[in-house]
Amino acid sequence: MSKNMDFNTSDTHISHRLHLNESDSNNLLNLNHVFLNEFKKISIYPDPSNTDLKNKISYHCKVSPDMVVLGNGIDEIILLLSLTFLKNKKTILTSEATFPGYETSAKIVGGNVIYAPLNDMKCSIANYQKNITSDVILAYLCNPHNPTGSIVSLDEVIYFIEVMNDKRVIPIIDEAYIQFSDENKNSILKYIVNGGRAIVLRTFSKAYGLAGLRVGFAIGPKDLIHAVSLTALALPFRINRFAQRMASEVLTSDILSINVRTVRKLISTIELSFSKSEVTYIPSYTNFICFKPPMGNTDFLIKAEKFGVMVRDCGLFGLPGWIRASVSNKKDVDCLLFLLDLTSFEGKQSGDVNE
Ligand SMILES: Cc1ncc(COP(=O)(O)O)c(C=O)c1O
Repeated sequence: MSKNMDFNTSDTHISHRLHLNESDSNNLLNLNHVFLNEFKKISIYPDPSNTDLKNKISYHCKVSPDMVVLGNGIDEIILLLSLTFLKNKKTILTSEATFPGYETSAKIVGGNVIYAPLNDMKCSIANYQKNITSDVILAYLCNPHNPTGSIVSLDEVIYFIEVMNDKRVIPIIDEAYIQFSDENKNSILKYIVNGGRAIVLRTFSKAYGLAGLRVGFAIGPKDLIHAVSLTALALPFRINRFAQRMASEVLTSDILSINVRTVRKLISTIELSFSKSEVTYIPSYTNFICFKPPMGNTDFLIKAEKFGVMVRDCGLFGLPGWIRASVSNKKDVDCLLFLLDLTSFEGKQSGDVNE
């Protein structure tokens, strides 16, 4: 099987990893002393209550600690949500062509999935509304949306929450990429902090650059968070000590603003280049861009593989003809433009493709 067709390839020898929406690790290198300090305590179990990190997140997000639950990445929180709420083979509602974790976790506990069609490559709240059935327990809205990179406005998200609450469905807003958009304008966090009945999911894997450590969190009403926390008791040491310590550290560092500023510039460069060359793309509110290679998907993927570049074929999400590629530094941009024949041979050399 072509590596570009394998959803979970995480081979660290690949020279250009544009397929998993990761960040650049260079900005984190000055925190290696934090790692070394934790290493001295490696024989001791990590804090099962995640007290320090939970308090820091609470302070940062202006919520009480009993509105926060941590997970081994958002991945684990989604599984905990399924284990907690999808009893008796109940159903989740999500958009078509979206992050596959919602479906995987629902199916693992015997749940069903209903998909709301996208409209113009964006989540459509009207389509969610049309597809609710009496079996639906959880409704996931990925905002900004993976893999398209599109976003729905805060007003629409609030409407989504109201619709779901009316139908006694728990609304879950996955904001894995929110910091790459205008977070103050687009995030639902404040609404939930002020009593809105929904759960928001956040991760340290993307804008904070800690994908290798596995840590994410959910914020929501105390009763829902309490129910998820009870399920989580089955795995008391889920968040390892390196993850707890590093996440605490990056929360108060300038890593987030550096990564976000860098990625926004890179995405603007790509969008400008795509516009000039008439490459069809979806304006991105994330660290990746979803586009249609003019040479066609097959030829693009063959070329990517030849030069050791991993990208995501959106056919896997049910969007044939589209490719998703993430960028975290200038090399990634050079590499992408080279694959699309948008830079000269010199560009290829300075882009170090296949280095
Ligand atoms: C929309 C979305 N949600 C959740 C996740 C999982 O994040 P984590 O690394 O925190 O498990 C991803 C990972 O790519 C994602 O794209």
